[in-house]
Amino acid sequence: MREGFPGDTDAHNRAIRETMRKYDMVTSPGEAYYARQYLHWIVPELDRRFPGRGIKILDLGCGQGRFTVPLAHWASGCGGEVVGVELVGEALERAKERCRGLANVRLVQDDILHFTSKQEEASFDAILFIEVSFFFPHWKPLMTHMARVVRPGGVIFASFRSQYYNLLQTVWSWRWEAAKIALEKREGYLWGEPVWYTWQTPEDIIGVCREVGLEVLAMRGIGVCSGLEEDPLGTIMRPSELSQEDQERLMEIECAAAEAYAACGRYILATLEKP
Ligand SMILES: C[S@@+](CC[C@H](N)C(=O)[O-])C[C@H]1O[C@@H](n2cnc3c(N)ncnc32)[C@H](O)[C@@H]1O
Repeated sequence: MREGFPGDTDAHNRAIRETMRKYDMVTSPGEAYYARQYLHWIVPELDRRFPGRGIKILDLGCGQGRFTVPLAHWASGCGGEVVGVELVGEALERAKERCRGLANVRLVQDDILHFTSKQEEASFDAILFIEVSFFFPHWKPLMTHMARVVRPGGVIFASFRSQYYNLLQTVWSWRWEAAKIALEKREGYLWGEPVWYTWQTPEDIIGVCREVGLEVLAMRGIGVCSGLEEDPLGTIMRPSELSQEDQERLMEIECAAAEAYAACGRYILATLEKP
């Protein structure tokens, strides 16, 4: 295992494109449930901070619009705007279809590091970076740009693949060497080339935030006792197989346990403030 991203960004990005062409984050089983879990934390924080809602939100790695659309609705009619940035054209096309009729959305096809590096300082009130860092090797430099681009008093919602998830996933598939890598490292070709994965613990995230001048307001596990079909946590409970009523029960329990078990979520959602 080499230390640090070996740098074949083209091969890495080609694999991401291939995945995101087929996998729709809006319609794939279970993803809507987790979107609601994220929004459970995101929307009250936005309401509290920006009651007028006339804000500029940046959705980095917006995919097919899983958060772009609800946030554009949240801000519509109030002068608020959402800018979504996405690498994969097919994903962005789906997002565009879903944003039809919403005048307050701008969707841009670009690399998120390239895009943020071109933005002026303090040009957004809120930034989302949800479920992107796990296959974005340059997430640390991106955090520096996010910290620069968000306004003082602004908020960033960033989620990271948890180390615990990768540990479960590797042990679940009897990949003992990969399990050691998951334990000892925080990035690598965990499942073989060409995708370079990254994963974190809450302490890792706190350390990076400190370095780039962001304050950590909260750290929460997303999906602390449930998962998708291919997740080890999905053997405990899969939201996609539950009735609406049972989904609500699971949601209540997972949200109540989210702070105590932040490290154990499928993802760790960090709510960050630019002082
Ligand atoms: C797992 S999806 C999450 C999408 C969305 N944030 C959500 O939660 O529904 C990750 C997204 O990040 C995008 N992505 C990965 N690397 C990127 C890059 N370098 N620039 C822009 N988008 C990227 C992928 O194409 C994919 O759509």
